[in-house]
Amino acid sequence: MKIFLFFLIIFSTGTIYSHTYLSPDKNLQLNIRLSNSGEFFYEIKFKNNVVVKESKVGFVLDENIDFFSSFRIEGITETSVSEKWATVWGEVDSIFNNYNEVKVFLEQTTSKRKLTITFRLFNDGLGFRYEFPAQDNLKYFIVSDEITQFAMTGDHKTFWIPGDYDSQEYTYSTSKISEINSYVGNGFNEIVIKSIPRENLVQTPLMMKTNEGLYINIHEAALLNYPVMHLKADKENLIMQVELCPDAVGNKAYLQTPFNTPWRTIIISDKAEKILESNLILNLNEASIIDDVTWIKPKKYIGIWWGMHVGLYSWNYANIDNIRIENTDWKNLKPNGKHGATTERTKNYIDFAARYGFDAVLIEGWNVGWEDWFGHWKENVFDFVTPYPDFDVEEVSNYAKSKSVELIMHHETSASVTNYERRLDEAFAFLKKYNYSSIKTGYVGRIIPRGEHHDGQWMVNHFTRVLDKAAKEKICINSHESVRPTGLHRTYPNWLSAEASRGNEFNAWSNGNPPEHETILPFTRLIGGPMDYTPGIFQIKMDYYNPDSKFQVHTTLAKQLALFVIMYSPIQMAADLPENYERFPDAFQFIVDVPVDWQKKKVLYAEPGEYVVIARKDRNSDNWFIGAITDENKRMFNLSLNFLDEGMYEAIIYNDSEDAHWNSNPMSYKIEKKKLTRSDQLIIHLAEGGGCAVSLKKISAD
Ligand code: NOJ
Ligand code: CA
Repeated sequence: MKIFLFFLIIFSTGTIYSHTYLSPDKNLQLNIRLSNSGEFFYEIKFKNNVVVKESKVGFVLDENIDFFSSFRIEGITETSVSEKWATVWGEVDSIFNNYNEVKVFLEQTTSKRKLTITFRLFNDGLGFRYEFPAQDNLKYFIVSDEITQFAMTGDHKTFWIPGDYDSQEYTYSTSKISEINSYVGNGFNEIVIKSIPRENLVQTPLMMKTNEGLYINIHEAALLNYPVMHLKADKENLIMQVELCPDAVGNKAYLQTPFNTPWRTIIISDKAEKILESNLILNLNEASIIDDVTWIKPKKYIGIWWGMHVGLYSWNYANIDNIRIENTDWKNLKPNGKHGATTERTKNYIDFAARYGFDAVLIEGWNVGWEDWFGHWKENVFDFVTPYPDFDVEEVSNYAKSKSVELIMHHETSASVTNYERRLDEAFAFLKKYNYSSIKTGYVGRIIPRGEHHDGQWMVNHFTRVLDKAAKEKICINSHESVRPTGLHRTYPNWLSAEASRGNEFNAWSNGNPPEHETILPFTRLIGGPMDYTPGIFQIKMDYYNPDSKFQVHTTLAKQLALFVIMYSPIQMAADLPENYERFPDAFQFIVDVPVDWQKKKVLYAEPGEYVVIARKDRNSDNWFIGAITDENKRMFNLSLNFLDEGMYEAIIYNDSEDAHWNSNPMSYKIEKKKLTRSDQLIIHLAEGGGCAVSLKKISAD
């Protein structure tokens, strides 16, 4: 429901103006001010304390044109909205959208150009965006810089990854704003992707905590036809300054009026748990553009995948270098004996999926090109339609159909996006012919067209083109190395998930993710939307596959189970090898039972970098599930179960054993069964780097 409160036309050119607006519950306060020189400022208070000090807005347009001063206010409108909307899939089945909106209509007196700034004040934060209306004096234009600022009130504790226009696959640093520095690097991004962490630049969602215990999260919503927003730390003045990802010639965006930018978002709470329960980002996105959503189904999946990451199998079929995809006689190559995606193995995986109720199987390395797929910045690597000789796509497709298991297509583009786009129609025709339901896309490497970045406007538009095409063809997308989510899955519910962060795979072949990593991700990357983290690794130490390997997953086995609840994704992978699951059938039962689509969410305890405890109710049953994870410290939680409905539940509790430890004894767990009701308490103990997963199956109504 939308209520228009009043419309106000104000004053004449150059008049200084200031005013205050409140959120529906009056806790959030927005102050706006126009200065003498016609610069526009906003300030945010929460419960009467300043959270964002007076901060600048505006743009520099092409040829150094000032579009941030000499404004006058032409008018202001206020609107209130209070509505409920239903999710297609999600962490909750319906969302309350309640805000007060303030639209400020500005005109630059010198150029007669118009700009509208729209603010939405929610109880848990603020969103604002720039709107360039259709106008004679501004039709086509280039954004050289967006000068939006977030002026912080102190030297807050900040959880950051370095600003890098081509990768988010970093571990987090925790420091004061004034200590954000250029990043030394971890090898992977620099060597494989050849990306560059930039001085004093950090990525969003950026999580901060003040000395007074206030939690502040800065991100963006509804990123379309515009570059990704990074933040540059002005360490002296403690101002976070927007820095848009540039294109190949250094411009930020090419726009045509009318145009609305993405929303700049600030989620604020004095409770960390409330940051994780916020729906502000989703509320700022538009409703689904797909009318018939009945074909969009959340999925739990397995895949021919981890075997390659641990070195047991290969993506490639032969061992040759310097190939040309068109001139290679693929049928007569000498196989290397390690190829993962064979017809036989795929059928075994389909059997395993059918046996344990998984919806889908992902097959990587099925198609020609993997012999020479990265490092050479080559344009023409994959054609997306030619299987290797030992992968019979027709047989696999028929077999999957006979077992009612879906197939997930893999399109690794090696970031050669021009190549992918020109082959897209053929690639989609192929996967539709063989009955695939979704695509995992991948963009490893430097972008072609050369000079473009993963986070630039050109790539943002590419990702949208793929989503549009997929929506038309009734295909779901799970994107890796893509732009990070900004709640767009509300508008494109076929965008089930994205990686766009440092996933579990790093534990297979690098120093990996420290125990705190998964306690930070819900406060950062997942604020924008689901993540394909690929949880569920049971064989923790990699010397099992290769005696020389020092690599390992930096969690206990029980924590891997808890991640199915913590790391929300409607396309959730049980990432380990089927044979490893069969070694631990009692623990595997949790993965079999846990759903991937939810009705309700309760964040019981959370602190970024330390612990997260979440309870979720299944969308399609009366069952509840709890996930609890900790960093490198062991912890105890006394959980009150009063979030449960009335009735009796049979609980299975997957605990770390007393002697479990992520490093010295990670695979030691114990399982208990109990009958519980909502008036019970449940005490759980988490080992160092450990976790706990609980399934609560409703067995009687009273
Ligand atoms: C990186 C992706 O994150 C991973 O899941 C995939 O297996 C490889 N690229 C190969 O495409
Ligand atoms: Ca990746």
